[in-house]
Amino acid sequence: MITGAAGLLGRVLRERLRSRYALVLLDQAPMDAAGEGEAVFQCSITDAAALRRAMQGVDSVVHLAGVSTEAPWDAIRDANIEGCYQTFEAAYQAGVRRMVFASSNHAIGFYPRTRALDGSEPVRPDTRYGVSKAFGEALASYYADKFGLSAVCLRIGTARSPDEPGDIRHLSTWLSHRDLAELVICSIEAPVHYQVVFGASANQRNWWRDDGAQAIGFTPQDNAEDWADRLTATPSDLDPIARNLQGGSFCAWEHPGAGNTD
Ligand SMILES: NC(=O)c1ccc[n+]([C@@H]2O[C@H](COP(=O)([O-])OP(=O)(O)OC[C@H]3O[C@@H](n4cnc5c(N)ncnc54)[C@H](O)[C@@H]3O)[C@@H](O)[C@H]2O)c1
Repeated sequence: MITGAAGLLGRVLRERLRSRYALVLLDQAPMDAAGEGEAVFQCSITDAAALRRAMQGVDSVVHLAGVSTEAPWDAIRDANIEGCYQTFEAAYQAGVRRMVFASSNHAIGFYPRTRALDGSEPVRPDTRYGVSKAFGEALASYYADKFGLSAVCLRIGTARSPDEPGDIRHLSTWLSHRDLAELVICSIEAPVHYQVVFGASANQRNWWRDDGAQAIGFTPQDNAEDWADRLTATPSDLDPIARNLQGGSFCAWEHPGAGNTD
């Protein structure tokens, strides 16, 4: 199952995984009609009964659905806290084997760019959105340890459309569509219990260690550096808070010191 199948990553994964797996596609937004080997469910992840129906017979859930950037608390709470909980609970009740949770680098955004994280450090979320991703990782750990629902939490860097880096920060955080698909396949198939993995391509300027990637057998192919000479600095590349921290502009939003250029 792919939740959030109507979104950017959901559409990329639907296209790239359909030849390998039978897919159950779920989103509250409309999606293309089911093709061969596909089933489509249009519902909210806060609707426990609908989730239970859709989850029957599912082996693995790639959980992408939710608010995918910073937003007011009620929106984050409904989709990324309540909806995330209902998704894990429905998966457990349906006997799902593997959860692949779309976490984010914004769960650790307040670490300085000079710190090479391996995924074992305490979270340092940079937004309410980042806090919700830390919640999802904790939920994944809880369901793995207590109920045996194994999980891979992907701290995705930056996957975009068009499929290329768009600013200087992305030279470190970019995840190509090809690498995203391979990362998700490894996350579904690797024999692990609970694993945090940073989701980035083989970027020359990568900040993160690849311990998690190695644990699931993921070897990225693409390198954001190929675009480096076409990129110019954006305001967030120059912002005094954003430029030193892994979360970039997410760290500067609503920050009391933002806009202070001293
Ligand atoms: N794109 C990236 O670079 C990136 C980076 C880090 C993490 N992520 C995470 O990956 C996931 C997918 O990202 P994306 O870029 O495709 O985001 P997106 O916003 O394009 O897609 C999210 C999808 O979730 C659906 N959704 C939202 N609330 C829902 C609900 N209550 N019930 C059912 N569906 C709901 C939306 O309709 C949408 O189709 C998100 O969880 C995001 O936080 C993405």
